[in-house]
Amino acid sequence: MTERMLTVRMQINGKQTQPMDLPEDLMLLEYLQEYLNLTGTRYGCGQGVCRACAVIHDAADGPRVVPACITGVAWANGRSFRTVEGHATRDDQGAVTQLSAIQQAFLDHFSFQCSYCTPGFVAAATTLVERLQTAPVARDDVEDVVLEALNENICRCTGYVRYLQATRDVILNTPGLTTDEVATRDTAS
Ligand code: FES
Ligand code: FES
Repeated sequence: MTERMLTVRMQINGKQTQPMDLPEDLMLLEYLQEYLNLTGTRYGCGQGVCRACAVIHDAADGPRVVPACITGVAWANGRSFRTVEGHATRDDQGAVTQLSAIQQAFLDHFSFQCSYCTPGFVAAATTLVERLQTAPVARDDVEDVVLEALNENICRCTGYVRYLQATRDVILNTPGLTTDEVATRDTAS
């Protein structure tokens, strides 16, 4: 049987990719790793459960996290994504000159050990920070929104606490992400 092919082109880390004829059922994770040599996005469960493969989809209504292992290139075609390689500031030669605030905070807090899960946590925490830029949260609610945003990411090494602390610190220390309103979320349930 002949494999059905699709011409695929999308925006990755702010750049348009060259059009490529790819199998229609190829997953975004394979496209990133095997065709674009962006190997920072990790393969974990392959079933949409662990979020090691999470990347940011820059949708019309704002950033959202998608698991690249179960996201087909057929759906991704023409859309815009950011992988872990796209978060730091780089010079003309591509060398990192400055980590993003979330990346730096994960380092400062010793949030990871083997780092296999880290690209997925970077995607989830960065998405939260960017969403709070347009919809700030009450300071008393920060703990809850961080827990909710990182809830689906699995880490087998560190027990999560330092990822949560690092993300919370970035939010509390970045002007405009929080308000002084009283907590609006029901923490009793
Ligand atoms: S590898 Fe994609 S969710 Fe686990
Ligand atoms: S740091 Fe090893 S899996 Fe998270």
